[in-house]
Parts: sequence; structure tokens; C-alpha cells
Amino acid sequence: MNETRRALLEALEEGPISGPALADRLGISRAAVWKQVNALREGGFTIESTAEGYTVTDVPEYGAAAIEFGLAVPYTVEYHDAVDSTNTRGREVASEGRRNVAVVANEQTASRGRLERPWTAPKGGIWCSIVCQPTVPAAHVPLSALAAGVATVSACRAAGLEAHLKWPNDVLVGDSGARGGHKLAGILTEMEGEQDRVSWLIVGIGVNANVDTDELPEDATSLRAELGEDIDRRRFVQRLLESFDAMLEDPDSVLDRWREYSSTLGQQVRLEMPNRTIEGRALDVQFPGGLVVETDDRQEVVHAGDCEHLRAQR
Ligand code: BTN
Repeated sequence: MNETRRALLEALEEGPISGPALADRLGISRAAVWKQVNALREGGFTIESTAEGYTVTDVPEYGAAAIEFGLAVPYTVEYHDAVDSTNTRGREVASEGRRNVAVVANEQTASRGRLERPWTAPKGGIWCSIVCQPTVPAAHVPLSALAAGVATVSACRAAGLEAHLKWPNDVLVGDSGARGGHKLAGILTEMEGEQDRVSWLIVGIGVNANVDTDELPEDATSLRAELGEDIDRRRFVQRLLESFDAMLEDPDSVLDRWREYSSTLGQQVRLEMPNRTIEGRALDVQFPGGLVVETDDRQEVVHAGDCEHLRAQR
């Protein structure tokens, strides 16, 4: 069903196409084409029947078909008005053996942040979990997480906001010095696999998009608050998926792009790890995602932890 919808949307993207041509291309009956076209209309698409065939003249603001229409990468979108957590739903999708699925919700009722912290996800945000299977060893997965951060900043900048990245993957806005700015978006990555093979990876991306700040934790901000208007969430998610997918295809590009968007490099930082805390200057990020830190007496690479910017040094 979803594959048929995806194929139909792809055919409609190319311009007017007749019912018989669609039936041929999709390998379904003309009656089934008609049913599918009507389902899209009921979902908010305006589809005119012209002499040349069906033409899409208007696309709904958000939703599965809206995001898939014009999407340049082969992801199926599963949309929920409300769900507990798109990552939790993503796990179910993964266990059904489905890959290249983006689970998107308008609202989450039990969303999860990093380090088992809760995450606030009211209506109007972009709550999206990408279920995929990169063909890399499990140890390389942190690079895919950084790619998600880069894709998120890139989509924010395309929407007009100069967001930046605090290691590893916090998307922030504003003063990159002490505290690092106000949190706009966060990423929670979960995976299953063996040493040499990932069986599934879920990249959960939460962006405070068309949300008022009084619905968010104290230090957080939103695209609406920063830009003074709502953004086109459909276009944002499309850019996010396209950019993330491009980096999975070209992993060598990720670290340089992360460096370009980072506000952590060059900063004095405090890194809290499960069993100790260190302070030093963040020098670089290194494959597959570790932060290179120079402390008073040595240089070390930190692979996981909470990072705090201590003061601006840029
Ligand atoms: C963080 O703590 O910074 C990470 C927050 C990740 C939130 C996103 S929203 C979409 C996905 N679903 C979840 O339950 N969490 C992630």
C-alpha cells in the first residue's frame, strides 16, 4: 500500500499523467488508480484531471504523503498525529524488518531524550525517527549520528536560522560561549547489530519548530520564537531526510561539515562521562565522532558524555 502510494506520488511529481499510464506504471488496475488518487484527495491533495491526465496543483501542509511528494530520497513516511515516541515506534518498524522509513509525529506523549532524560514534544514540532541500516560496522555508527546533527543544522539554516552544533549533537541557537546557547533540537540514536554489521539504526531527531517557548523547558528555544513566524515543516523534513541520506552515501563528507557547523571546537569545555569529568580545550572531532580535548597535562579523545561550554574563546 505505502509502496504504491510512493510510486504514485513519484509519477505525479513528473507532471500530468493519464489514468491508463499510471495503471501501467504502477502495475495496478485503473479502478485502483482512481481509488489511490481519491485517497490522496481525501488527504488534502488537490489533483486536477486535465486533458493530459492527473496533475497535482496543491499539496497538504504536512503528513506522510505530503512529505513523500517531492522527496528526492526513497524513504517511506509513517505519520502520526500523536504517538508515545517516534523512536519507540521506530523500534517496532525495525522489528517488522522495514528499513528506510521515517516515523514522523505532530506530537509525542512519552518522548525520550539522551541519557534517559525526558524530552518535551508538543504539537507543532518536528519529531522524526529515521529507521535505516547503514552498511557499516557498529563502531562507525557515531558518524551517522553526527550526520543527523549536520542535516538538522543544515535544514535550520535553509529555514533562515543560524543554528550551530554543540558536541556531540545538540543543535543550539545564540551565544556559543558559556552554556553554549539555547537548545533548538536534539538527537537520540539507537541501534542493534553485531560488531561488523548494523541490523537497524534509529536516528530520532526532535526540532522545536512551530512551538511556543512556554511549552518547552526553560533553556530551550524554537524556530517560531527565533524567526518570528512558522516554518514549512514539510520542506524541513524533506531537507533533513535528503541531507542525512546524502551523508550516509558520502560518509567522508560528515566530519568536515560537522566542523563547519560546530560551536564547540576552540572552546574551553567540561565533559561529564559516566565515571569522571574532565575540562580542557576542544581541539577537533575525529572519526567516528570522538571529541579531541587538550587538558592541562595531555590530549585525549572522548567518545561519549555531556559537554558544557565554559566560556567563549572564539
Ligand atoms: C536529546 O536529549 O537531546 C535528544 C532528544 C531527542 C528527541 C527526539 S524527538 C524524536 C525522537 N523520538 C524520541 O522519543 N526522541 C527523539
